[in-house]
Formats: sequence, structure tokens, C-alpha cells
Amino acid sequence: METEITIYDGTSDERVRAFLNAEWKAIDPEPWTDGKCVITAERDGRVVGAATCSLGAGVAHLGELMVTEKERNNGLGARLLQAFEEWGTAHGAHKLTLDTRHDGPAQRFYERHGWRVAFVMENHYLRKDYAGMVKEPGRPSSPAPPLSCPKGARARRGSEAGSGGR
Ligand SMILES: CC(C)(COP(=O)(O)OP(=O)(O)OC[C@H]1O[C@@H](n2cnc3c(N)ncnc32)[C@H](O)[C@@H]1OP(=O)(O)O)[C@@H](O)C(=O)NCCC(=O)NCCS
Repeated sequence: METEITIYDGTSDERVRAFLNAEWKAIDPEPWTDGKCVITAERDGRVVGAATCSLGAGVAHLGELMVTEKERNNGLGARLLQAFEEWGTAHGAHKLTLDTRHDGPAQRFYERHGWRVAFVMENHYLRKDYAGMVKEPGRPSSPAPPLSCPKGARARRGSEAGSGGR
């Protein structure tokens, strides 16, 4: 009998989920806990900021983070980010991840909150370079690269020596 290959729009096919769950269990029997949440900042019943978050097997991912333009620079972004980090760790995440424009203003915002660039994806969304950023709540962060160094020594750039490709 011929095997048909079919493309379905969307991802909410329960048969496929059941098939994949059963097959993955045979490969990796550890339980794969997952979850999702949205976080909102609201004033007078109006959403002025939001974050979308997901969790899979101990890795919490911040999908989107947005504060409406005229509310920026008042600490709302920091509060939403903190709420995401608390949600992740409360659900057992050992690592937090996100993607953002490489060398964009948001990358610096995350770095100030203890995140680091783990890798760079060139020519990514909309053909722009994106940084894959991580924060590991239970692990001491790597020391920041030196701004200056003693004469004769060479400064090491970046926090991940040997991560390659950058
Ligand atoms: C990133 C963002 C959520 C920060 O929200 P916020 O409420 O302004 O954040 P806070 O007030 O806590 O912090 C403001 C800091 O972000 C910096 N910032 C200003 N404009 C920014 C921008 N367009 N993008 C990122 N950071 C910016 C400010 O310089 C400020 O730095 P400081 O803490 O050293 O003063 C908000 O700028 C935003 O929604 N940007 C557009 C969407 C975006 O880029 N989202 C992240 C993509 S992953």
C-alpha cells in the first residue's frame, strides 16, 4: 500500500501529538514536562505590556516581550522580564532562553538583567542576525569580559571561549 505524505496547516492534531509522545518515550523515557503562559501589564483594563512564555523539559523560553511605546523606560519591561523568570524557575526551569536582534537595544536590556549571548544566528528572522540568549538562575554567571587588561596580555572578547562561529 502506498504511503501518502500530507501537509496540514496548524499544529493541533491530537493524533500526531499522541504518535510523537509515544515515539519520543521510547527514545527518551524521562518525562518531558511542558507549559505555556502569557504575562500582562494592564492599566485601567488596558494591556500596556505583554510577554509570551513556554516551557519544555526544564527550559523556559521567552517568545515575545513588548511594552507599548509611550510606557517604555518606566521599568515595565523589567517587571515583565522578572515575572517570566519567576514563572520559569517556579516551574522547575534550570535554564531560560530567548532570541533577539543581535547587537540591538533589546540585547543590551537583557544583558543588564544578567542574560548572556550564547550564540548568534546570522541571516535569521527577516534576514537579520539574531542572538540566542540564555540565563541560568542556579549557576553563577561567567565573569564579564575585561574592559582593559594589563600590558602584554590580550583581552578575551565574549563570555564563551570556544563556542565557535562568532
Ligand atoms: C525591550 C522593552 C520590552 C523594554 O521595556 P521597558 O518598559 O522600556 O523596559 P525598562 O523600563 O525596564 O528598561 C528600559 C531600558 O531599555 C532601554 N531601551 C530603550 N529603548 C529600547 C528599545 N527600543 N529596545 C530595547 N531596550 C530599550 C533603555 O535604554 C533602558 O535602559 P536602562 O535600564 O539602562 O535605562 C521595550 O523597549 C519594548 O517593548 N521594545 C520593543 C519590542 C522589543 O524590542 N522587544 C524585545 C524583543 S525580544
